[in-house]
Amino acid sequence: MDPFDSFLKDYSGVIPDFQEYLEDLRRPMPLYFRINTLKTSMAMVKNLLARDGIISEDTCIPELLLIKKQDPSRQLLAYYLGLIYPQALSSCLPVLALSPGRTDRVLDLCAAPGGKSTHMAQLMRDMGLVVANDRKLGRLTALMANIKRLGITNTIVTQARGEHYTSNIQFDKVLVDAPCSGIGRYRIDPAGRIRHMRCGKTDLPAIQKALILRAFDLLRHCGVMVYSTCTLNVEENEGVLHYLLQKRDAEITHWEPPVTWSPGIDKFRKQEYDSRVRLARRFYPHKVRSVGFFLARIIKR
Ligand SMILES: C[S@@+](CC[C@H](N)C(=O)[O-])C[C@H]1O[C@@H](n2cnc3c(N)ncnc32)[C@H](O)[C@@H]1O
Repeated sequence: MDPFDSFLKDYSGVIPDFQEYLEDLRRPMPLYFRINTLKTSMAMVKNLLARDGIISEDTCIPELLLIKKQDPSRQLLAYYLGLIYPQALSSCLPVLALSPGRTDRVLDLCAAPGGKSTHMAQLMRDMGLVVANDRKLGRLTALMANIKRLGITNTIVTQARGEHYTSNIQFDKVLVDAPCSGIGRYRIDPAGRIRHMRCGKTDLPAIQKALILRAFDLLRHCGVMVYSTCTLNVEENEGVLHYLLQKRDAEITHWEPPVTWSPGIDKFRKQEYDSRVRLARRFYPHKVRSVGFFLARIIKR
């Protein structure tokens, strides 16, 4: 069976308002700009964008604008000046759940190209410490360019496989924005083709399990960690949380998102997971008008 058909078969009973979901896949993904409040203010950027003929609207996230109308051929001055970072609304949620503060030591284990690392540095007012790690050198180049463009100085960049990451310090907060199958990004183009479908033989749940375990071990006692993906796949989400709960003294904690969410799934096909995975948050594209996402806020007991 075609991978998309098999996805539809498995998830038609899981995704709320499934017909609405299918219709939404045919619409273009809405565009958002995160405003870099280290360099500028919301009002200044709105003015600058309006001068370039861009119509924007406030969102439920104070530093994020929804772009209603933009000429895609236009090179934006605000971008080159490091005043904006194009970022999906749902991609901001893991950082809000982690809520890094000005004195925190934060590790971002899978950081490139830096949407979440730079958002964290912004919320930390460029204080404390962010260690932004990624496995892939090419993607780290983009990460470093973004850090420079946005004028961030509190971030160190490292290259390592997250599952083998070594550190002399333990972190107050850790983000694992794991490599995933990216089902939350799916779109259907006018020719009926599925866009953003990744087909590979990599055993993603195995990598994700190794990453979440290592991240947990790098966390200080009572530290907070967020595990997130942009997939709706249960094995890569609740399956990975279930594994962590079996292996370590971890607790998933309540977090109230500013957008519509659904609870984690503890029964899928013939599999039953630890019921605590229901405390995770699922974000469906047609409900949040953005990429589909999953996250769990976890504390080390
Ligand atoms: C979902 S993307 C991260 C996006 C990033 N957090 C952001 O907000 O811009 C996942 C990243 O994990 C990296 N990656 C894949 N396998 C990894 C591993 N074993 N250890 C660390 N990073 C890995 C990929 O290179 C990719 O950049």
